[in-house]
Amino acid sequence: MYTMQSWTCICLIICSMQSVCHCCDWIQHHYGHLSSEYLSLLDQMGGDITEQDAPVFFPTSLYRHIDDAEFEDQVRFRNETIYQITKLFDGNMKSVTWDKKKRDDFLNILERQFENLKSCVSPAKKPERRLKRYFKELNRKVLRKMNYNAQAWELIRKETKRHLQRLDIFKAKIH
Ligand SMILES: *[C@@H]1O[C@H](CO)[C@@H](O)[C@H](O)[C@H]1NC(C)=O
Repeated sequence: MYTMQSWTCICLIICSMQSVCHCCDWIQHHYGHLSSEYLSLLDQMGGDITEQDAPVFFPTSLYRHIDDAEFEDQVRFRNETIYQITKLFDGNMKSVTWDKKKRDDFLNILERQFENLKSCVSPAKKPERRLKRYFKELNRKVLRKMNYNAQAWELIRKETKRHLQRLDIFKAKIH
C-alpha cells in the first residue's frame, strides 16, 4: 500500500514537471484549433450577439501595446485575460438561457487554456493593472449593476467575444 502511494506520488511529480516543460509546445500545437472551437461555441450557445454596447471602454490601447510585445509578455497577457474572463463567468447565471452543454464546453476550454498558460512562462514582475481594472469595472457596471440579468450576460458574452477575437490576432506569432 505504502509503495503504491509513493509510486503514485513520483508519477504525479514527473507528470507535472513534464507539463511545465511542454506547455509552450502545447500552445503551439493546440492553440489555433482550440481558439476557433471556443469562438464557435460562444456563438452557438446563445442567439445573435446583442447590438447594445457595454458601458465600459474596451482596452484597445492595451492590445495595441501587446501586439508589439515579446512572446512571453503576450503569453502573460493572454493568461490574465483568460483568467479574468473565467472569473466573470463564475457569477450567478440563473437568468441565462444559453445552451448549457455548449456553455460548459466553452468554459472548459477556457479553463484548459488557462491551466496551460499560467505556468508556461514566469509570471510578470509588474502585473497589468489596467487590464484588471477594466474587468473589475465590467463586473461592477454590467453584472452587479444589472443584477446578473439575461441582458447583462449578453453584454458580457459580446465583450468576451471581442477579447477572444482580439487575442486570436497574435496567434500568428505563437505559431
Ligand atoms: C496567470 O494568471 C494567474 C492569475 O492571475 C497568475 O496567478 C499567474 O501567475 C499567471 N501566470 C503568468 C505566466 O502570467
